Amino acid sequence: TNGRVPLIAGNWKLNLDHLQSIAFVQKLAWSLKDARLDFNDVEVAVFPPYTDLRSVQTLISADKLSLKFGAQDLSEHDSGAYTGEISGQFLRALDCSYVIIGHSERRTLHNETDAVVAAKTAAALRHGLVPVICVGETAEDLETHGPSAVPVSQLKVALATVPQGADIVVAYEPVWAIGSGQAATPEQAEQVCAALRAVVAEKIGQDAADKTRVLYGGSVKSGNIAGFMRQPNVDGALVGGASLDITEFSNIARFQK
Ligand code: G3P
Repeated sequence: TNGRVPLIAGNWKLNLDHLQSIAFVQKLAWSLKDARLDFNDVEVAVFPPYTDLRSVQTLISADKLSLKFGAQDLSEHDSGAYTGEISGQFLRALDCSYVIIGHSERRTLHNETDAVVAAKTAAALRHGLVPVICVGETAEDLETHGPSAVPVSQLKVALATVPQGADIVVAYEPVWAIGSGQAATPEQAEQVCAALRAVVAEKIGQDAADKTRVLYGGSVKSGNIAGFMRQPNVDGALVGGASLDITEFSNIARFQK
């Protein structure tokens, strides 16, 4: 009733090559169809590796599937001497709707700073992609600064130059909950997601805050999704491990409030 269509997003990370991606998306589509999922009530998106995107695009368009898809990262640059980089323009040309930005694995393993995340967010918006901006604190941050402090400051930087009313998605992924099997509690997720929505309001306006989906990510499974979805400020999930299991992922998409 808040008007936000929940988003269930599957971040495949470095899993499934382009051939596997075709079989996977086909089976996922069948599974969601069997479940009679109504795509007016929930949006389902997959985030495959770059090399899968053309295959996924072709399949989704040929079979007229209601699945959305996006990339796991993009370059802050549009073209030029940037070996190994992929531009927002290329992703848009492949019909990507979304792009994940600032995942904790990129922040940690590739030294992505808040400034880089802000530049990538600007690049995504420049090319008509909806950025899925990831923020989250480590266990140590949580102990030192308490809940919300680190994710809030990360999001403030990411949104510093974003125009009012921009179409974005925010994902709260506590680093300690990612791949650990130890998810946050629904109450913890709600507290931080509410604080993040307030940052969206402060930076890009109340209308944007009202329409922005704020997701929770970190050890989401079919068994715990309902608790998160019951929270007023949690509008979906960014799913890692469980998004690689068709039954699990499709059961997550069928979450019952
Ligand atoms: O981006 C999603 C991810 O980081 C969460 O991973 O495996 O804990 O669901 P997982």
